[in-house]
Amino acid sequence: MENWKERLAGAALAARQYAYAPYSGFRVGAALLTAEGKIFTGCNVENASYGAANCAERTAFFKAVSEGERQFLAIAVAGGKEEEPEDYAYPCGICRQVMQEFCGADFMILTVRRKLDWQEYSLRELLPHGFGGDGLR
Ligand code: THU
Repeated sequence: MENWKERLAGAALAARQYAYAPYSGFRVGAALLTAEGKIFTGCNVENASYGAANCAERTAFFKAVSEGERQFLAIAVAGGKEEEPEDYAYPCGICRQVMQEFCGADFMILTVRRKLDWQEYSLRELLPHGFGGDGLR
């Protein structure tokens, strides 16, 4: 049943329309799937004070967590300077760390280039030997 991936990829592409990226021009949309099948979307939100920018992935995570969600299956990410970018956009290191906080190693990341065109990774692949909270407890 691959249809959910198609829907998640489509939601990330759609969320991209709200990207606020007047400084970089790099527009990103993300769509996060919860264990119960709900989708939370996000876009990047930049700021004149550049360091205050927030990535699309973290926007989606923070929206979901702030509404009580803690269990996630997958995230789709679509980004680039062009409407139909040549390359796949990969989550930055900070976003991978946020994924590590809430997701297991099998959490799936779809990097979406356009409709029906994405690559699939596990969090294990994108953040090997990640730092988790276990050692702090
Ligand atoms: N960006 C994301 O939204 N997600 C990523 O994983 C990589 C980077 C945004 C942040 C900034 O607004 C722009 O892309 C350029 O770095």
